[in-house]
Formats: sequence, structure tokens, C-alpha cells
Amino acid sequence: MMKKTEKITGIVLAVILLVCGCFFGCSIETSATGTMYYGDVDRNGQVAVSDALLVLKHVVGAQVITDSLALQLADMNHDGEQDVSDALLILKTVVGIAKREPYRSGGQGKTLVVYFSCTGTTETLAKYAADILGGDLYEIVPEDPYTEEDLAYYTGGRADREQNDPSARPAISGQVDNMEQYDTILLGYPIWHSQAPRIISTFLESYDLAGKTIIPFCTSHSSGIGSSADNLHHLAPGANWREGRRFGSGVSRQEVESWIAGLDLNKMPDVSVFDLAAGENGKAPVVTLNSGYEMPIVGLGTYSLLDDVCVDSVAAALQRGFRMIDTAYMYGNEKEVGEGIRKSGVPREDVFVITKLYPNQYGDAVEAIDMALEKLGVDYIDMMLLHHPGDNDVAAYKAMEQAVADGKIRSLGLSNWYIEEMEAFLPQVDIPPALVQNEIHPYYQESEVIDYMHQKGIVMQAWYPLGGRGHQSELLSDPVIEKIAQAHGKSAAQVILRWDLQNGVVVIPGSSNPDHMTENISLFDFSLTEEEMAEMGRLNRNEKHDWY
Ligand SMILES: NC(=O)c1ccc[n+]([C@@H]2O[C@H](COP(=O)([O-])OP(=O)(O)OC[C@H]3O[C@@H](n4cnc5c(N)ncnc54)[C@H](OP(=O)(O)O)[C@@H]3O)[C@@H](O)[C@H]2O)c1
Ligand SMILES: Cc1cc2nc3c(=O)[nH]c(=O)nc-3n(C[C@H](O)[C@H](O)[C@H](O)COP(=O)(O)O)c2cc1C
Repeated sequence: MMKKTEKITGIVLAVILLVCGCFFGCSIETSATGTMYYGDVDRNGQVAVSDALLVLKHVVGAQVITDSLALQLADMNHDGEQDVSDALLILKTVVGIAKREPYRSGGQGKTLVVYFSCTGTTETLAKYAADILGGDLYEIVPEDPYTEEDLAYYTGGRADREQNDPSARPAISGQVDNMEQYDTILLGYPIWHSQAPRIISTFLESYDLAGKTIIPFCTSHSSGIGSSADNLHHLAPGANWREGRRFGSGVSRQEVESWIAGLDLNKMPDVSVFDLAAGENGKAPVVTLNSGYEMPIVGLGTYSLLDDVCVDSVAAALQRGFRMIDTAYMYGNEKEVGEGIRKSGVPREDVFVITKLYPNQYGDAVEAIDMALEKLGVDYIDMMLLHHPGDNDVAAYKAMEQAVADGKIRSLGLSNWYIEEMEAFLPQVDIPPALVQNEIHPYYQESEVIDYMHQKGIVMQAWYPLGGRGHQSELLSDPVIEKIAQAHGKSAAQVILRWDLQNGVVVIPGSSNPDHMTENISLFDFSLTEEEMAEMGRLNRNEKHDWY
């Protein structure tokens, strides 16, 4: 008979290994250490909690086992009283931390707590929140401070009058430095006549908050948050508003802590599965990047499209519903891509523009970024990638991080980075890459790399999705792909692109042929069966079609 503690340990271990196997791709069958410990527990129940700790450290990485978690686990050893639900709770915490660890906040992941407060209630809360989150604090200070008389409500005083006037915008003294560096904004205000004070509207209208997450909170005598937060949404177009929370006066730090814990702010977006049902032919769904911005999952590749062909292809693609364009300094067509966007009539802000710095630009990336903006003729670049690993790549990435803070770039990524390169690169940068663009097609499937990136919350994008110019005819006439295409009444290209999307891989097929473009964005009225996905999976030859 197993003792209770051993039994708990066994269960904990089994679940740890199972859960970690799912999260970290180290399957119980193939991880030698995992198999050994799991087997030992199974056979004789002799594994002690200290061993459990060891396994845990091995599987999820030593850095996520904090001293207090280690103590909690060790406690189980001493008193043997902890029950399974407690053990599972600890486990959930550990795995939760481990799972979100790669999605570090730093640089662009910063949080700002903004508040307006006249009598100190909201201020106390805001200070707790900033302290708990390690975020920055910003007080909205009116240029013309509110006197006691101004605040006396139902007297027709200043506050009453402003609340009655939807166009009132009391001026703010000072401003937030580098708003671009913040992903998440906690916005605190007192309830004034069931609404947020008008100065909150002034604040929201003063910044471009698109792509940021805003979490409102308020204090009041008795009113709830009601419609006060919803009524602010239109003032920050493109922001992701979370549900708000009302507090009374005399709130404890603990209460704020538990509210913030429930917000799950570090939750890593799942970028491995796309909401394909949300797409329709001619309108691709989006994936939310770890930068908070949304990116369409089908785009136009522009490699080798030059001059008017490029301008016309970009315009034609946008007119057919494409909303993402991939270019690069090296393609020599950034200017034409910009022209194509303008020619299409589609508003610039509706188009997701990706460009890349080439290794010969890494030495002076600051200038190269400005040059890209100028050639494209845009105020900001949606996504900038480093084209290949190379000398000064970290310095170039840091220049791109600064450009994010300056509002010149919104999201960052890499191209032609594989697992080894990522392992060396990631610890050296602050903003986690949102996207990696690598060669991927049925003959070069890269499943291991895709899984690795997905686990890190990084979107995977396929270049040469159709095999690349010179290779696509072989791929498009592959008998397996042709057979599947026939079964669905689709083209071979559509089957390949749909296979990518079902694998959680974004596609950027290149084309100057409008009919092909229409085909390439008509991927949402059919789906491949599990068996067909498996058949496609078996086509892998590990056959790279280009050197980088
Ligand atoms: N980061 C990197 O290192 C890197 C490297 C290479 C490429 N890329 C990016 O990836 C993009 C895609 O690669 P790619 O354009 O070279 O190759 P690709 O997308 O694999 O193939 C493009 C070729 O396929 C044809 N095609 C497109 N749609 C078709 C359809 N529905 N039916 C039949 N043929 C079709 C195109 O011809 P038509 O013009 O006649 O349609 C073109 O010849 C590039 O444009 C570039 O943006 C990045
Ligand atoms: C002009 C004005 C209007 C107010 N309206 C309401 C209200 O509609 N409902 C409510 O519960 N409290 C109302 N209050 C009370 C404040 O919401 C409450 O005292 C708040 O916690 C003050 O926050 P502060 O100390 O951060 O300024 C109002 C206060 C003022 C000054």
C-alpha cells in the first residue's frame, strides 16, 4: 500500500509529466527522465517529494520553481496531510508560470497604471496596482485643478456642468512619455454621475491606443461601474477593452492583488490555432500577435515583383481582399509596395505591412528603419523582421525596439531563425518577437520548429508556401495534393495553403496573377480532413528549396 504522501506525489508526478508533456512537447514516452520517474512511481510508489521537485525542475526548467513553491511541495513531504486538490493547485501554479514564462513582458510588454483622483480614493488603488504589477504610474492632473466647490455635486458646480456636457474636455497638464512602450493600461477614475469624469475622455483622445489592452477600474460611493467604461470605448479606437471593476473606499492591497491575479495579464495568446471559421473567401481572419496587434493570416508575398508589376500586383491583391503585404529592403520594391497600397484605394491603416532589414543594414539599423518608412511612404510599419541572422543582428533588433517605442514600428519579428538561433538570440532582447518567417512547404515541413515557436507565443509564417519560383510546378502537380484538391473541387495551391492554415501557419504566396490571388485568398469554404492532413504530413522530404 502506498502512503498518502507517496500517493499524492505519484499523482502529482503523473499529472506534471502529462501536462508538461503537452505544454513543452517533451512527451512521457520519449523523455528518458520522465519515463524513469513515472515508471518508478507506478511500480513501487517510492518517489519522494524531493524527487518530484527534481523532476519538476528538469521538465519545466529550474528557474520557475520559486522558493515558496519549493517549500509548499516540500511541506507535502513532512505532514502528509495535503490532499490531492492542494497538490493540483500547486501544480497548476507551477505549470501556469512555466507556460507563460517565455512570454516575458519587458520593453513593449510594459504596463501603465493611469488614474484621475480628486480626493485620493482612486489614487490609493492605482498605487497598489502599479506596485503589484511593477508597472509605471501616471496621474491625470487637470490644468485647472478642481476645488472643493467644483466637486460639490448636484449644485450645478463645475463637475456637474462638465458631466452634463458630452463635449467637455478639461485640459490635462503634462503627458505620458513614450506611450508606445505600454501594452496594457489600467485606467482608474472616480464615478461622477454614473460616468467617468470628462477628463478621462481628454486623456483617451490624446493618444493612439490602438492595439493596447485597456482595463478600467473605478471608485464610487455606491454606484457600480455600469456603462461608464463602455461609454469610453469609442474614444480609443482599436484598443482591446477588458471588463472593468468598481471598488468602494478603504480597499485593501489584498483585494487589489486578487483582482489583478484574476486578470491573468500574462496570458500568452494561443497562436497555434487560427479561427478559420471566422474567415470567408476574400477576407482572411486575423491572429492576435503577442504585441497585441492583429495580423491577417493570408498575405501577398512580393519577392521578385518589380516596378509596375509590383505596384499593380499589390493593388490587385488588396482589391481582392488581401490585407497583408510582405516585402523587404532586399526585394528592391518597398517604394512600389507603398505605391500599390495607395493605388488600391484601401486605407493604409487597414493594411498590415511587413518589411525586413537585410544583414548589410544591421550596422546602421536606425537609418535603415527610417529609409524603409520613407520608401514605403508610411508613418509606421506594422511588422519589421531581421531577414537573416548576421553580424550586429542583436544591435539591429535593439534599434527596432527603440523604433517601437518611438511609434515607427508596431511589432517585431525574425526571418530564417531556427531553434538554435532563437535560443541564443532571445535572452539578449527585450521585446519578444511576434513572428518568425521561415521556409515551409509540404516538402519542407519544419514541424519541430513550428511547435517550438508556437510554444513561445510566436506566430509562424511560411515563405515559399508553394515551393518557390522554379519549384512550384512540381509541388502543384504532386499526385497526393492533386488527389486531395480534386476531392474538394479546389486547386492544388489552395490545398497547400489551407494545409498551412490548419497547421497554424500564416501564408504569403507570391503572385502577379490576379486569378491566382483570388484563388489564394479563397480558402475558407472547405477544410481538410484529419486523414488528408496526415497524408500531407507524409509528403515531407526535408527538402529545402533555398539556402537561407
Ligand atoms: N524571408 C525570406 O527569406 C524569404 C525568402 C523567400 C520568399 N519570401 C517571401 O515569401 C513570399 C512567397 O515566396 P515566393 O513568392 O517566392 O514563392 P511561392 O509563393 O512559393 O510561389 C510563387 C509562385 O507560385 C505561383 N503561384 C502563386 N499562386 C498560384 C496559384 N494559385 N496557382 C498556381 N501558381 C501560383 C506564382 O506565379 P504567378 O505570379 O503566376 O501567380 C509564383 O511563380 C515571397 O514573395 C516573399 O515575400 C521570404
Ligand atoms: C461630481 C461628483 C459626482 C459623483 N457621482 C457619484 C455617483 O453617481 N455615484 C456614486 O456612487 N458616487 C459618486 N460620487 C462619489 C465618488 O465617485 C467617490 O467619492 C469616489 O470614490 C471619489 O474618488 P477620488 O477620491 O479618487 O476622487 C461623485 C463625486 C463627485 C465629485
